[in-house]
Amino acid sequence: MTKPAILVTRAIFPEVLQALSQHFDVESNQDDALWGREDLAARLAGKQGAFMTGTEKVDADLLARCPELRICANMTVGYNNFDLAAMSAAGVVGTNAPDVLTETTADFGMALLLATARRITEAEHYLRAGKWTRWTYELFSGAEVHGSTLGILGMGRIGQAIARRAALGFGMRVLYHNRSMLDAATQAQCHASYVDKPTLLRSADHLMLVLPYSAASHHAIGAAELDLMKPTATLINLARGGIVDDAALAQALRDRKIAAAGLDVFEGEPSVHPALLTVPNVVLTPHIASATRATRLAMAELAQQNLVGYLIHGKALTALNDPASAQG
Ligand code: DGY
Repeated sequence: MTKPAILVTRAIFPEVLQALSQHFDVESNQDDALWGREDLAARLAGKQGAFMTGTEKVDADLLARCPELRICANMTVGYNNFDLAAMSAAGVVGTNAPDVLTETTADFGMALLLATARRITEAEHYLRAGKWTRWTYELFSGAEVHGSTLGILGMGRIGQAIARRAALGFGMRVLYHNRSMLDAATQAQCHASYVDKPTLLRSADHLMLVLPYSAASHHAIGAAELDLMKPTATLINLARGGIVDDAALAQALRDRKIAAAGLDVFEGEPSVHPALLTVPNVVLTPHIASATRATRLAMAELAQQNLVGYLIHGKALTALNDPASAQG
C-alpha cells in the first residue's frame, strides 16, 4: 500500500522524522534551507500533510496550489500562520501543540522578568567589558520583583502558569486582563484578580504579555499604552512579535517612559528593530521561551501524532478547525 506523502518544512529531531517515515512518504528539510513561498508551494503540491513550525503562511492562495493537502500540523502552540477560515473552506485541518510547552514557557517568562528587572544582561556586558572596578551601593540597582505587582495580559494556560509562579513563588500581587474572565476556581488557583486593560497598565510594576497574535491584538501595546505605564515598570513580551509596536517601545525605553523591557519575540523576526539594539535597558532573546530539549521534542511529537492521527486514523488530537462542518 502506498503511504500518504507529507512535507516536513524545517529541520526537526531525527527521531521524529524516523517515526513519521514509518507511516508516510516523507520529504524533509534537514539542511534547514529557508524556503520562499514558491518553494513551499511547489514542495507541498501532491502532499496530503505538512509538518510546520509556525512560520509558514497557509492562506487561500497557497491552498489553491495544493489541492491534495488535508492537514497542516504546527509544532508550536501559536498558529497565526494559519488562515483557518481559508483552511476550512479548502477542507484542510490545522493543528497546534498546546499544553506541552506551558510550564517551560512560564519558567522562561519568570527568567526574562528577573533578568530585565534586575538588569542581569546589562550588568554582565559591563563586567565583560572590563568596566567593573569597585563595588558601589547603586551599581545596577534594579526593580524589586518579590512583593511587587505583576500584570498579565492574556490569561490562557501560559498566563495562568506564570501567575502561579509569581504569586506562590515570589509573593507577587497578580492582576490580569483577558478577553474573558477566568472562572472563580481557576482564578483562585492563580491567585489573580481581573482588571480592565487601562487599570492593568497603570498598576503593573511588571507587565507580562502572553496573549495570542491576531488582527485584534496587533499593536495591543503601542505609544498610548506605554504612556499609561509606570516610569519604573518593566514590560515582558513572550507572546508574538506584532503585539508590541517595537518602534514605539524603543522610543519609550530611550525616553525612560518605562524602565526596561525583556523581549523574546519581535515584529518581523528574525529581524529586530534597529533602535532596540541600541538601547541598553532591554533584554533580547531569539524566541527561545519553549526551548528545552524535552519540551521542543514533546512539541514535535505532538505534531507528529496529529499527522498520524488524522491521515492514518481519521482524527487529529488538537484540531483548530473542523473542515467537515465548514463544508456543511
Ligand atoms: C509557540 O509554540 O508558539 C512558541 O512561540 C514557539 O516556541
